[in-house]
Amino acid sequence: MVGPSGSGKSSLLAVAATLVTPDAGTVTIDGTPTTGLSRGELAALRRRRIGIVFQQPHLIASLTAVEQLQVIARIDGRKPRTVRDRAMELLAAVGLADQAPRRPHQLSGGQRQRVNIARALMNDPTVLLVDEPTSALDHERGAAVIDLITRLTHQQATATVLVTHDPAHLTSVDKVAEVRDGRLTLPAAAG
Ligand SMILES: Nc1ncnc2c1ncn2[C@@H]1O[C@H](COP(=O)(O)OP(=O)(O)O)[C@@H](O)[C@H]1O
Ligand SMILES: [Mg+2]
Repeated sequence: MVGPSGSGKSSLLAVAATLVTPDAGTVTIDGTPTTGLSRGELAALRRRRIGIVFQQPHLIASLTAVEQLQVIARIDGRKPRTVRDRAMELLAAVGLADQAPRRPHQLSGGQRQRVNIARALMNDPTVLLVDEPTSALDHERGAAVIDLITRLTHQQATATVLVTHDPAHLTSVDKVAEVRDGRLTLPAAAG
């Protein structure tokens, strides 16, 4: 998803993530209409079906990389050993197996964003919503993060909606949609 600053891209992602209730229309996630669900039901839906990656990783300073991932699944009451295996598998998938015991201040910006992406995949989401994940990274690290997201999207069979301001990223996505003055135009073929 591309479009000028202030056009409504982040707002649309927040609505899709059920973090913001739309004034009109319905959000349906994996066949479940979200209209009328309670706050608790929405939180459970987000926890189980939606992966969210925002611009800033927002990792918990006191937790190691692997713990950032484990805490998500533990909230849902999954078994500790299974959770740890899955967390290590995802850290390996984003190329950070050897950084598992490190805390955020011991990681680079690109590494923190990769932990963030791995964390978003911890619940095997139906949809991954990603808002300008490369804005805090230099061009090369940014391109690596986009490659990682597109690779994991296919590997994990997740549908990903990615907001980016960098035209270089558009060649690696399946479809490009544009938001302008709060309106979404679908889709011009990519690349
Ligand atoms: N929480 C909010 N309350 C009111 N207006 C907001 C809020 N967040 C964003 N906006 C406004 O909504 C419009 C779209 O913002 P946003 O979705 O952040 O755009 P983009 O991500 O495309 O830059 C802007 O005019 C912005 O100022
Ligand atoms: Mg935005």
